[in-house]
Amino acid sequence: MLIAQLTDLHLRPRGLPANRVVETNMLAARALAAAARHRPDVILLTGDLADRGEPGAYRELARMLAAEPGLPPVFALPGNHDDRAAMNEALPALAPLADGFIQRAVEGFPARLVLADTLVPGSSAGALCAARLAWLETTLAAAPDRPTLLAMHHPPFATGIGHMDRIALQDPEEFAALLARHPQVRLVACGHVHRPVVTRIAEAAVMIAPSVAHQVALDLRADAPSAFVLEPGAFLLHRWTGAAFVTHTALVEAFPGPFPFLGAAEG
Ligand SMILES: [Fe+2]
Ligand SMILES: [Fe+2]
Repeated sequence: MLIAQLTDLHLRPRGLPANRVVETNMLAARALAAAARHRPDVILLTGDLADRGEPGAYRELARMLAAEPGLPPVFALPGNHDDRAAMNEALPALAPLADGFIQRAVEGFPARLVLADTLVPGSSAGALCAARLAWLETTLAAAPDRPTLLAMHHPPFATGIGHMDRIALQDPEEFAALLARHPQVRLVACGHVHRPVVTRIAEAAVMIAPSVAHQVALDLRADAPSAFVLEPGAFLLHRWTGAAFVTHTALVEAFPGPFPFLGAAEG
């Protein structure tokens, strides 16, 4: 089973860039096309689909998805730049509301996908309130033997990039305790930080995917200024082998190659 994780699209209504210079709509369309070439079984969008929660941005995404032939099922959860109502209205099948949140379990694949909603309207930081923690607890307890990928926007750990850590998931200890109770969660797939970062919590690998658009500057000082760079956009391909998740990083934009390796005799 192959899961393509695309995150932090930061779409704008047609014709508008994000952060003055990032052509996010173009990059998202290219990322979808690049992901589709790997023939994933599922595409997972882990938040910040829109840059400012504008209805027109979600309509652009709906248009992009319709224009890309042969896409597998697409599932989405919200990030801090998203607006639940606008996201749900333009993309009802991708982002259905359940008890006021965009959260759900996806069954029917070799690995189970659980999508959590860490959005707190008006805040850049994320949280799982009592209601969402209870939903997660019940949802995970319902399938303790199914290998699970848990997806959410805000990472539950500090990366060392100070300005991003201050807006990570609040109360990560509570989330770590939840993971320890549910060791079938093998991988936690996050976004938000616009950089690839990996750690481990309890039995789970925890990965932050790079953005398909702009990246956050790699600056590990606690007082690092909040800034982005135009490093190449990328996405993750999580391969469930039946025993483990194996993750590859794929760039959005084209580059030279592939060039075949030559044998020693050919020089
Ligand atoms: Fe983002
Ligand atoms: Fe975010």
